[in-house]
Amino acid sequence: QTIYLEEYRVPQYLVEHVDLRFELFEDGARVHNTLTIQRNPAADGNPGPLELDGDSLRLESVALDGEQLPASRYEDEGSKLRVKDVPARFELTVVTWIEPQNNTRLEGLYKSSGMFCTQCEAEGFRCITYYPDRPDVMARFRTRVEADKAAYPVLLSNGNPVAQGELDDGRHFVTWEDPFPKPSYLFALVAGDLVEKKDRFTTCSGREIDLRMYVEPRNVHKCDFAMDALKRSMRWDEDVYGREYDLDIFMIVAVDDFNMGAMENKGLNIFNSSCVLASQDTATDATFQRIEAIVAHEYFHNWSGNRVTCRDWFQLSLKEGFTVFRDAQFSADMGSPTVKRIEDATLLRTAQFAEDAGPMAHPVRPASYMEISNFYTLTIYEKGAEVVRMIHNLLGETLFRKGSDLYFERHDGQAVTTDDFVRAMEDASGRDLSQFRLWYQQAGTPVLTVQDDYDQAEGIYRLTIRQAVPDTPGQTDKQPQHIPFALGLLGSEGQPLPLRLQSESPEAPQERVLELTRAEHCFEFHGLTERPVPSLLRGFSAPVRVHYPWTREQLLFLMSHDPDGFNRWDAGQRLAVDVIQSLLGAADDAEIEPRLVEAYRALLQDPSLDQALVAKMLQLPSEAYLIELSDSADPAAIHRSRDRVLAYLAENLRDDLMACYRRQTGTVDYELTPEAIAQRSLKSTALGWLLHIGDEPALELAKAQYAEADNMTDRLGALRALVNSDFQQARTEALASFYQRYSEDPQVVELWFSVQAGSDRAGQLPQVQQLLAHPAFDWKNPNKVRSVVGAFAGQNLAAFHNPDGSGYEFLAEQVCRLDDSNPQIASRLVAPLTRWKKFAPNYSTQMRTALERVRDKPALSRDVYEVVHKSLAG
Ligand code: ARG
Ligand code: ZN
Repeated sequence: QTIYLEEYRVPQYLVEHVDLRFELFEDGARVHNTLTIQRNPAADGNPGPLELDGDSLRLESVALDGEQLPASRYEDEGSKLRVKDVPARFELTVVTWIEPQNNTRLEGLYKSSGMFCTQCEAEGFRCITYYPDRPDVMARFRTRVEADKAAYPVLLSNGNPVAQGELDDGRHFVTWEDPFPKPSYLFALVAGDLVEKKDRFTTCSGREIDLRMYVEPRNVHKCDFAMDALKRSMRWDEDVYGREYDLDIFMIVAVDDFNMGAMENKGLNIFNSSCVLASQDTATDATFQRIEAIVAHEYFHNWSGNRVTCRDWFQLSLKEGFTVFRDAQFSADMGSPTVKRIEDATLLRTAQFAEDAGPMAHPVRPASYMEISNFYTLTIYEKGAEVVRMIHNLLGETLFRKGSDLYFERHDGQAVTTDDFVRAMEDASGRDLSQFRLWYQQAGTPVLTVQDDYDQAEGIYRLTIRQAVPDTPGQTDKQPQHIPFALGLLGSEGQPLPLRLQSESPEAPQERVLELTRAEHCFEFHGLTERPVPSLLRGFSAPVRVHYPWTREQLLFLMSHDPDGFNRWDAGQRLAVDVIQSLLGAADDAEIEPRLVEAYRALLQDPSLDQALVAKMLQLPSEAYLIELSDSADPAAIHRSRDRVLAYLAENLRDDLMACYRRQTGTVDYELTPEAIAQRSLKSTALGWLLHIGDEPALELAKAQYAEADNMTDRLGALRALVNSDFQQARTEALASFYQRYSEDPQVVELWFSVQAGSDRAGQLPQVQQLLAHPAFDWKNPNKVRSVVGAFAGQNLAAFHNPDGSGYEFLAEQVCRLDDSNPQIASRLVAPLTRWKKFAPNYSTQMRTALERVRDKPALSRDVYEVVHKSLAG
C-alpha cells in the first residue's frame, strides 16, 4: 500500500494534551494514555469517527470523559482504533499492554542491556499506545514513569521533572512535563540503572542549563568528549544561528541496541553507544569526529526539527537536510573545512549518486512511499544538505542568516514543509528560487558536460556547459535545474587568472559562481593571453557529475597548483580513477602511468603542504566509487586493477613512504587537531601501502605501532595494515591479541569484527561465517550485524561479489533471517543487492536470483517488500 504526498489532508482532530502513565514490569508494561482532543477547526466537512494509529498493542480499555466505553462504541482493527460519535471536545483514556522485553524491532518501547528505552521516529509511538501518530499533531506531554526502584533507579522522559515519590512493593515514580507542544515522534522514555554525569552550560541570555549524560556504569569514563562536544554545539548554534536552548535541562542517554545513530527527542536525546561513547584507548579519530558531528546534529534538531517540525514525512528533509548542513558547517568550523568537504563529497559521490541512479531513486521531497523508514536515506539527508548549502551559496552568509531567522520566527511551534523553508529564504533575500525548487522535486543527479575552446586572436576562452537530469523510476523528461557552478581559471604558472565576462568590464574576480538555469550556457572570458586550465565546480558547489575531457597533464597540473584545496584533491582522484580504469581488461604487464608516482612522491616529500589535505590525497578512490563510475562493473577486475596501482605506487615509493612514516613518529600528546589527525592518518597509510607489498621492515614497524600505541587510531591502523597484508602469522597474532585486550568492550569488538569482515584477506565467506558464530556476535544487536554482515557486503567488495554468487546467497539468507526480528535493519542490509543493474551480466543475474529469494520469503515485512519489489521492477 502506497502513501502519496498529494493525498495529504489536515488532521480531523487535534490533541492538546497527553497524560501518560507507564507501569513498567519484567513481563510487560501497561500504558495509561489520556488525551485531551478537539476537532480541528481547519478541517473541512464532517469529521467522522476519531481514528488513532496502533501497532502490536493489546487494548485493555477505552474511556470517554471518564466513562468506560462499551465495545460497540469503538472498533479495534489493530493498526487503527476508531471511536464513533465523539463530541467536539473530549478526554479519551486508552489503556494498552505491551511487551518491551520481546520487542526486537527496536521501534517503540523496548529493552536494551536491561534498561527500558524508546525510539519513536518515524512511526514508533503507535507501538506504545493508540495515538494520531503524525507529525502535524502537536501536543503537550506529561509522563509518569513507574518501575521497580532497585532495578530502575533512573526514570526519564521529555521536559522537566515535576514530581517523584515512592510506591508500594519497592516501586517508585517520576513525573515529567514538557512545556513545548511536540509531535509523538519526539517522545522518549528511559528507565534503568544508569550513572549520571553532570555538567552545566550558561546560555547567551545567562540561563543556566543542567546537562546530563546517562550511561551504564562500565561506560562512565567514555562521556567527556561528547559532553564537551555538546557544549561546543550549544555555543556554536547561538553564535552562528542565534539559537538558544529552551529547557532547563538537556539529557543524553547511551544505549547499545539502536537501529540508527541517534535521536533528537525533546530534551532527552538517545544515542547508539557507538555514536556517543569514546575514550582515547577505544575510539579512533574517525569515531571522535563522528561523535562530535552526531552530538551536534541531534542538538541542532532542537530548533531545526523540534521547535519547527515537519508537516508530514514527505517533508523529512526539511529537518534532516537542514540539520546535516548545520552539523557540516559546525564540523568545518571545529576542524579542517577542506577535509570535511572532501569527506562529504566522497560520501555523496560514492553512495548518494548510486542511490540516485538506482531503483530506489527519489527526490529530496519524495512524492510517495510504502514504508517511511526506507526513506531515511542519503538523498534525504546528504543531498538534502547539499540543497540547503546551494541556497547558502546563492544567498551568501548574511542573507542566508536573515532567511533562517525568518524561518524560525515565522514557523516556531509549527509543522511545515520544505516549501515554507524556501519561501522564508526568498522573502528574506528577495531572490526568486522558483526554479531552484526543482531540486526538491526531481530525482536523479544532474550531469554537466563541459566543453571549452580558446580563441588566441581574440583572447577569449569559451566554456559551454550543458546539463541533463537523467530519468529515474517514474520520472522522465526533466527540466533544467538552477545550479551554482563555482570556477576558476589557472595560467601556465599556476597563477589565478581574472574571470572577465565582458571585454570592457572592470570587474574581474579570480573565482566566480556561475548560475546555470538552462539546458545549455556559453560563457566567454575575455582578456586571456594564454589558454587557461579550468578548475571546475570548486568546493563541489553543487551535487552534480561533471564531464570534461581532462588530460592527464591538466590533472597533474591542478593536483599541484589549484588554490582550491578541494579541487586539488579532486584532480588527484580523477587522475587515479583514470589510471585504474585504463588497466581494466589490460594485460598483466601493461604499463602504469609513471607520472602518478611522481605526483604522489611530491605529496609525500613536501612537508610545507597542508598535511591534512595530503593525507586525504593519498587515499586511492575506493572500489565502491569505481563501481559507481562504471556502467557494467566487473568488481573482480576493478579490485585487481586498483590493487595493481597500489602495489606499483608502493614499490616505487618505498623510501618515501618510509621517510614519511618516520617523520610522523615522535612522542607527542594525543590531540584531535587536524594536524595531529593527519599525522596519524599518514602514518597508517604509509604502513598499509608498504605491508601491501610485503615490506619486511614495515612489518616490524606495524608490530611496534600496534603494541606501543597510546590511542586506538594508531592501534587499529596497525591492525588494519596487518590484516590486509599477506603476513598471515602476524595477522593472526594481532587479531587474537586485539580481541583479548578489548573483549569486554562492545564498541571495540565491533571494530574488530568489521576490520575482518571488511578485508579481502581475513574476510572470505567461510571466515565471515565463523565471525557470525563467534560468542561476541549477537543477531539482536544492530551494531554487531552491521559490523559483520554490513562490512562484508559494503566494504569487502571482492569477496561479496565472488563470481560464484556465494556472497549474494549469503546476504539474502541473512536478510531473510533478520526480516522477522528487525525489518528496519533487514531492509538496510539488502541495499547492495538492489544495485544489480550496475554489474556485468554474470554478476547481475545472480544478484537478481538472490533478490528473488528474499522476495519469496513468507511474511516479508513491508520494509523489505518495498525495497525488493522496486529493485526487481527497476
Ligand atoms: N531523526 C534521527 C536523526 O537523524 C534519525 C531517526 C531515524 N529513525 C528511523 N526510523 N529511521 O537524527
Ligand atoms: Zn537528524
